[in-house]
Amino acid sequence: DYTKNTNANRQQEWEETQLRKALKGPQDTGEDIHVPGSEEYEFVFDDEAGVDFTDETDDVLPEKDAAYENELLTRLEAEQKRVSTIQEMRKLLPVYKYRKDLLDAIRENQILIVVSETGSGKTTQLPQFLFEDGYTKNGKFQIAVTQPRRVAATAVSARVAEEMDVVLGKEVGYSIRFDDKTHPQKTILKYMTDGMLLREFLADPELLKYSCIMIDEAHERTLATDILLGLLKDILLHRKDLKLIISSATMNSTKFSKFFYNCPIFNIPGRRFPVDIHYTLQPEANYLQAAISTIFQIHTKEKVPGDILVFLTGQDEIETAREKIEIIAEKLGSGIKPMIITPIYANLPQEEQEKIFIPTPPGCRKIVLATNIAETSLTIDGIKYVVDPGFVKENSFVPTTGMSQLETVACSRASVDQRAGRAGRVGPGKCYRLFTKWSYYNELELMPKPEIIRANLSNTVLLLLSLGITDLLKFPMLDKPSVSSLSKSLEQLYVLGALNSKGIITRLGRIMCAFPCEPEFAKVLHTSASHHLCAGVLEECLTIVSMLLEATSLFAGQRKATTSNSIAGKVSSDHMLYLRVYEEWANTNYSRLWCQDHKVQYKTLRRVKNIRDQLWRCCERLGFTALNAAATENANGSIVNPESRIAKSFISGFPMNVAQLGTSGYHTTGLKKSGGLNVFIHPSSVVFQQTREEAKKPSRYVLYQQLLLTSKEFIKDCMPVTNESWLQEMVPQVFNSR
Ligand code: CDP
Ligand code: MG
Repeated sequence: DYTKNTNANRQQEWEETQLRKALKGPQDTGEDIHVPGSEEYEFVFDDEAGVDFTDETDDVLPEKDAAYENELLTRLEAEQKRVSTIQEMRKLLPVYKYRKDLLDAIRENQILIVVSETGSGKTTQLPQFLFEDGYTKNGKFQIAVTQPRRVAATAVSARVAEEMDVVLGKEVGYSIRFDDKTHPQKTILKYMTDGMLLREFLADPELLKYSCIMIDEAHERTLATDILLGLLKDILLHRKDLKLIISSATMNSTKFSKFFYNCPIFNIPGRRFPVDIHYTLQPEANYLQAAISTIFQIHTKEKVPGDILVFLTGQDEIETAREKIEIIAEKLGSGIKPMIITPIYANLPQEEQEKIFIPTPPGCRKIVLATNIAETSLTIDGIKYVVDPGFVKENSFVPTTGMSQLETVACSRASVDQRAGRAGRVGPGKCYRLFTKWSYYNELELMPKPEIIRANLSNTVLLLLSLGITDLLKFPMLDKPSVSSLSKSLEQLYVLGALNSKGIITRLGRIMCAFPCEPEFAKVLHTSASHHLCAGVLEECLTIVSMLLEATSLFAGQRKATTSNSIAGKVSSDHMLYLRVYEEWANTNYSRLWCQDHKVQYKTLRRVKNIRDQLWRCCERLGFTALNAAATENANGSIVNPESRIAKSFISGFPMNVAQLGTSGYHTTGLKKSGGLNVFIHPSSVVFQQTREEAKKPSRYVLYQQLLLTSKEFIKDCMPVTNESWLQEMVPQVFNSR
């Protein structure tokens, strides 16, 4: 990724190769894509006509003069046309034909599993059917639909609001962390992340305001979805009026049925056109380059119009790919047809999301660069070509070291098959896999690993304990996490002070649960407001935490280091950089112009401010702000050395995230005394820049916020621990014995 910064010549050479490859195509060079001997998906097509459906618009014209009335009439006609086209489109979806059967099945069963091909209309239509069938009882009850991903919740709710011809945030709304677009009285269809519904159990353990709950994308098996299913299994026993619908793409469904007393599975036959699968002849060493050259091969060689969907692993990779494609496209100029490049990933701001759904103008080709969000959660019409490197970024937890890491791993066969299927929705399609056929049959796992058996369970365990579920081993789960992973999370919660030595949740533990962020961050805030060694820096820590929760898209591309100097001067850590940037911006009264001048994303900072405001209110409610004010007063109105207090606060929240300098660089420590993983400070960190530019002696300990396993093991968002005694002071249980 960093060739561009370090070696301009190599970059140019690479671009030229890409150009040559793109213009020649695979058949000429004999490399990259193997076309003959491809495989086909089965052809399933169903063209039965749908039944009639009533339209429910009754607009009334206000009394005005004739010209105005005419204008209104034209507008109304256009509007009715739009609404009726949307209603026509609804009728074409596969689920529409099964509307009555589905509603009958839901009436007869408390729990129903609905399985169909992606894009059939489960997410957008089923909740509307339930509403039309009267399950919301004239607004007395709500229908909740959970999604594993934020983008899916926001994008789908916008679509459904359009279909129902209502304003998003009223009858149809969404709720994701730090962004609630629902109306307390009016909302009847609520799309939300599975994590948000999980949090609602804290306030309303019976989920009394809902008459139906649809756990969507259940096959994704996120941790939150699995826990939700376990909790629902219990409340369904005494809430006989509550309906549970579990919807899933075509994998894993019998497992859900077994879990819920063999409840029925409703299969909706889908339609899919054949998709040719192409494999590379050799394994690809650099899949990003291979993907880019494949995109250009398709774009320049394929005569048939149709958009390209490319599966990449994350925001950084997508942005890098976008830049490289734009450079090449610019060089090719009018030699190629226009390309519209649209990224889509979990944290993509909402105003950007809509772009992926805009139909491609004739003569152009849309290139959608997506994470696996486009695998099943979102359906983009018009895709004909899929480029699939076969990788996904996974969060995994290693109990022996007690650390979480973000790792790029090979997808499962089920996943790559789903991805290929995305090319066959509008007509026959093609899928280019950037790995070998041998690898598909011999190396890929059959199914993805559920998150519950690979993730850090601390948050979940804390939530369950605060709900009064103390016997974790007896809690119903589709897959049981290992005992070692459970006990590691108990140990971590104990170190944070969320549990006492008997494993019982403490007052601090309950406070942590009340925060809409990871317990570690809540601990940082608690310490910064109330700890006798570092109180008085709550405001600063709130800013840094809010920045860390959102700042991934703050600095466009790799510009962080250069930008930071211009705004903040020399800072000792990424944490202090975030603080300075935010404070500078706040001092300009949150100016948009300031952001433009300093090449910082204005919208990102607005979101950070929003998060900060919400966390601030939470701190007020829990009495943190009062404690903090008292501490500042004790220090005669100003805190002398805020930076060391901030550092101490973060140490108290993240004692597991401390890397230690050894003979061969840094290694992680977790809760252990020695061993760990060799890691490198990420080049985007100001700490990396310092050791480079100033030949400064590296600090013996570095605290980091993220461990990233890609081509190398990187730690991101780092802070040197300049005074080692802070470790013992703040977390004696861990560091005293070292
Ligand atoms: O949930 P499932 O995969 O079964 O399908 P869905 O998400 O309900 O999508 C049904 C259809 O709605 C898709 O085929 C798209 O054509 C359309 N849709 C859209 O145009 N824009 C969106 N934001 C979401 C869905
Ligand atoms: Mg869906």
